[in-house]
Amino acid sequence: MKNIAVFASGNGSNFQAIIDAVEAGKVDASIKLLVCDRENAFAIERAKKAGIPQFVFSAKDYASKADYEKEILFRLNELGVEFVILAGYMRLIGAVLLSDFEGKIVNIHPSLLPAFTGKDAIGQALKARVKMSGVTIHFVDAGMDTGPIIAQQAVGVSADDTRESLQEKIQKIEHELYPQILHELFTAGEEKQ
Ligand code: GAR
Repeated sequence: MKNIAVFASGNGSNFQAIIDAVEAGKVDASIKLLVCDRENAFAIERAKKAGIPQFVFSAKDYASKADYEKEILFRLNELGVEFVILAGYMRLIGAVLLSDFEGKIVNIHPSLLPAFTGKDAIGQALKARVKMSGVTIHFVDAGMDTGPIIAQQAVGVSADDTRESLQEKIQKIEHELYPQILHELFTAGEEKQ
């Protein structure tokens, strides 16, 4: 079983999907910590309800990214965390966390990367009038939504899709795909029963 930390900044619906999958025995992991950079994020309520410890910080209380990442790293190491799972964490991962966790940080993004990186990928896709968008799960490197792709799933975009309807389609896929891919990643190399 892998010890993991989930990083989130907002609603945390992907975090919830991971909590539910762990509780159902569908993801072979123990969630040791939620790291959250917004004190009013709903993800924090989800952690409390599930009995998961939280580290909530505000970047403006630190002189630099390196400073707050050192504090996060200390907590991850203290808890024996092996994988960092980004679930709507809207900050770039810096050199401090990457140096210890490169290849062990996974992100989910609501587009078929490399299209539509950064914020509001769903709005960007609608604006570009693409016929197809989707979900990407990838390892994190120093770039914004770059890094080796682990899995992708496409979703059709119709002419009458709104931001809300496309987001709903994309999140439905995310909530199924993320736990499934994480389980595969955490059990890779283990003998199949
Ligand atoms: C998710 O759709 C995720 O793919 C996206 O933020 C949303 C968070 O929703 N991530 C990014 O855009 C990363 N660049 P949630 O808080 O309900 O899980």
